[in-house]
Amino acid sequence: MTPAKHGTRPIVVDETPGKKAYCQCGLSANLPYCDGSHSREGTGLAPIVVTVDAPGNKAICQCHQSGNRPWCDGTHSKL
Ligand code: FES
Repeated sequence: MTPAKHGTRPIVVDETPGKKAYCQCGLSANLPYCDGSHSREGTGLAPIVVTVDAPGNKAICQCHQSGNRPWCDGTHSKL
């Protein structure tokens, strides 16, 4: 399994409602969203798929240490 290659700070997006696939491998060209690179690169990782119910700013965890992934819970600031 290839280690994730994200940064240490969340990506904040003005999200729209609907089904979202957030990248967990860090190789996507469209972060924070999955673009299928995890499969093409054989990382053994998969995106986290969630349904966003309401529009608004969402902080997407990039440090992989949040206790509430895919959402940031501030853990990155303690690393
Ligand atoms: S491209 Fe990274 S999880 Fe899909």
